[in-house]
Amino acid sequence: MQTGRPFAGPVLGIESSCDETAAAIVTADGAVLAEALLSQTEHAAFGGVVPEIAARAHLAHLPGLVTRVADTAGLALRDLGGIAASCGPGLIGGLIVGSGVAKGIALACNRPFVAVNHLEAHALTARLGTDLAFPYLLLLVSGGHCQCVAVDGVGRYRKLGGTIDDAVGEAFDKVGKLLGLSWPGGPALERLAAEGDAARYAFPRPLKGRPGCDFSFSGLKTAVAQVASGLPQGALARSVAADIAASFQHAVAEVLADRVAHAAEMMPEARVLVVAGGVAANATVRRALSQVAGQRGMTLLAPPLRLCTDNAVMVAWAGIERLRLGLADKLDVAPRPRWPLEELSAG
Ligand code: KG4
Ligand code: ZN
Repeated sequence: MQTGRPFAGPVLGIESSCDETAAAIVTADGAVLAEALLSQTEHAAFGGVVPEIAARAHLAHLPGLVTRVADTAGLALRDLGGIAASCGPGLIGGLIVGSGVAKGIALACNRPFVAVNHLEAHALTARLGTDLAFPYLLLLVSGGHCQCVAVDGVGRYRKLGGTIDDAVGEAFDKVGKLLGLSWPGGPALERLAAEGDAARYAFPRPLKGRPGCDFSFSGLKTAVAQVASGLPQGALARSVAADIAASFQHAVAEVLADRVAHAAEMMPEARVLVVAGGVAANATVRRALSQVAGQRGMTLLAPPLRLCTDNAVMVAWAGIERLRLGLADKLDVAPRPRWPLEELSAG
């Protein structure tokens, strides 16, 4: 919705689409005045996010986090220039909580509200505090998403390819579970892989070399499961698990690099490759991507680690990008569990 209404003052961002409860206050020129994030630990015992528990935890913690960031920034809520909240895609209970809190503040303080698409927030983070201009190629790799996107402008996205089964972060998490690692598996698997031999197991590289830039990870996960279950009882010693983790991570990095190389061919105008989402925290993945970018004369831009995983700074920033264009949303906008990037518009 176009409001044409100028905004003045820092923007509060709220993130609650999955299992991170977060609030942050960011100024229009990209200064982060305050940020607070709570990673819900309640889900570890279940080996995955339990939606109802997540929603209740967001409800319990969000008001405290908002108060904390306002205090840290030395601001009253009425000093804000706008309020932005992740409104999808994600778990609907959490989205309702986060957007409800944001709308309440917007209503009480008579400030513009921005319903932020969580994927757009990941996509635009690389512009925070940098002079990155459009267009650029985005590789979004998280627990729920795995896609190559041509970012032509705010609200202007073309999906070049995506996963036909699991998201890459999901594959990390499932393999982590197979190896008996704590949840979420990605960071734990990367730590374990550092002790292992990446050449020990020749796991498949699904879709490698195929035209286009779609992804597939379920076959790779199955191959890992077969190796793990084929080992004699008690043989999944730490050193074997480390070799499996390293070999798996290596296969993933190689596949991502291949798919991105194809995506770059589909978007020859892009000079910058941006990687975002939780898996962008992985050093082996980053190295492989930086190599591909280098071979093509492209620059790899990866936001700082804390901004790669889910956070509220990116939500506030996406709100700022929209508010700068005079875009805000009505308070009756509904959160959406599914909300593809291509369904966004800048007007
Ligand atoms: O972007 P994000 O915080 O949340 C989603 O929107 O999904 O991404 C979380 C995902 C999880 O699957 C997690 O295992 C993965 O990112 N991840 C990693 C690493 N850190 C987080 N995967 C591989 N290596 C890491 N260091
Ligand atoms: Zn995310």
